[in-house]
Amino acid sequence: MRKINFIAAILILIVTQNTYAQYYTTAKTPQRIIINLTETPAISMAVTWRTVDEINKPEVQIAEATNWTEFEKNTRSIYPQSKKFITDKKFEVFQHSAIMDGLKPNTLYVYRVGGDSAWSEWNQFRTAQDITAPFKFIFLGDIQNSLKQHCSRVLREAYKTAPDAAFWLLPGDITDAPLDDQYDELFYAGGFIFGSTPSILTADNHDNEYLREDGSIVTDNKGRKIKSNVPSTMFLEHFTLPENGMPEYKETSYYVDYQGVRMIVINTSKTKKLNEQVPWIEKLLANNPNKWTVVSFHHPFYSAGRDRDEQDTRNAFLPVFDKYNVDLVLTGHDHAYSRSYKLRDGTKVPWNKKGTVYVVSVSGPKMYAANSNYNNIMEKTGGNTQLFQVISVDRGKLIYESYTPTGSLYDSFRLSK
Ligand SMILES: [Fe+2]
Ligand SMILES: [Fe+2]
Repeated sequence: MRKINFIAAILILIVTQNTYAQYYTTAKTPQRIIINLTETPAISMAVTWRTVDEINKPEVQIAEATNWTEFEKNTRSIYPQSKKFITDKKFEVFQHSAIMDGLKPNTLYVYRVGGDSAWSEWNQFRTAQDITAPFKFIFLGDIQNSLKQHCSRVLREAYKTAPDAAFWLLPGDITDAPLDDQYDELFYAGGFIFGSTPSILTADNHDNEYLREDGSIVTDNKGRKIKSNVPSTMFLEHFTLPENGMPEYKETSYYVDYQGVRMIVINTSKTKKLNEQVPWIEKLLANNPNKWTVVSFHHPFYSAGRDRDEQDTRNAFLPVFDKYNVDLVLTGHDHAYSRSYKLRDGTKVPWNKKGTVYVVSVSGPKMYAANSNYNNIMEKTGGNTQLFQVISVDRGKLIYESYTPTGSLYDSFRLSK
């Protein structure tokens, strides 16, 4: 009897240990997994992740999704670029980045990342169609502050509202500062969504590196730390974004053609020379085979926040946006909401005429007092409301809907052409 008890105890111990081992997180376990659109979203997808320990053979495994686990017999391995990264708290970690390429359009894939016997879960994503076809995407203004406490529910409500969104778009101020604890909160808030719904982002303003002289951060006369115009390595190492823009704006100015929409993302860091990006933008607008054009950047033409005016951004880009009839401009920065009528040269035009709708939105909890300077060209303005936007494009129709975190419709309009 005693012998049986002893064997049972050993068996329980083995089973418990094995079960525990399956869930145990080690320093080799992939963290902060995020997929990003590439410039060819029908045939590839980018993935980035972190491990605390160095991985001898980091790897992505990918297969076409099946209804059971048999896809595991048909995986293909892709090997990432991995590099040591020293965080602001001087911790040594490893960032891994890979392009999952050679994919089929409009196909559901499963992938996992890892190596050295420590793997992520299998995540699913669908590649874009290689033709014009209806889809929706989510636009989130500055998330930036209190990411865990106050952005988690917004991101999750956005996911519940449009779980089938093809991608998420974020126009900068991803965190308040490029610090590791804030990125930890960002990935806490995004959770599994980041690993299964691709995103495109730009680095701007708060995402930039601090200005340093002789290794020390430069401060202004009020002791505030000054930002440079260079995207932080924290941003660049956490995302793998298209590099089809100007070389000096790598991964922060680029474009993606998605099922009939040209998405152009521009870095508008104020200390950058905005005019030097105009010929690149004009080329993209002049040679655009897509029916729709959506442009996104950080600093808006028509500020929604009091005492702000982004004249330099407006002067640089407005003439080309008008000339080539950009449909929709999605921006952040002002921590308030404003959505214009259809405009041309800063003036209201009828909805059935050519023009552009300009949006400033905010998803995080930081709020500024609203600006009334542009009320004559705004159909909806507001403040003290965290928001997310669901934008659907179906052939000649674009439907824009802005929602609050409690699920109410806050603003909407339609474009037709
Ligand atoms: Fe900003
Ligand atoms: Fe901001």
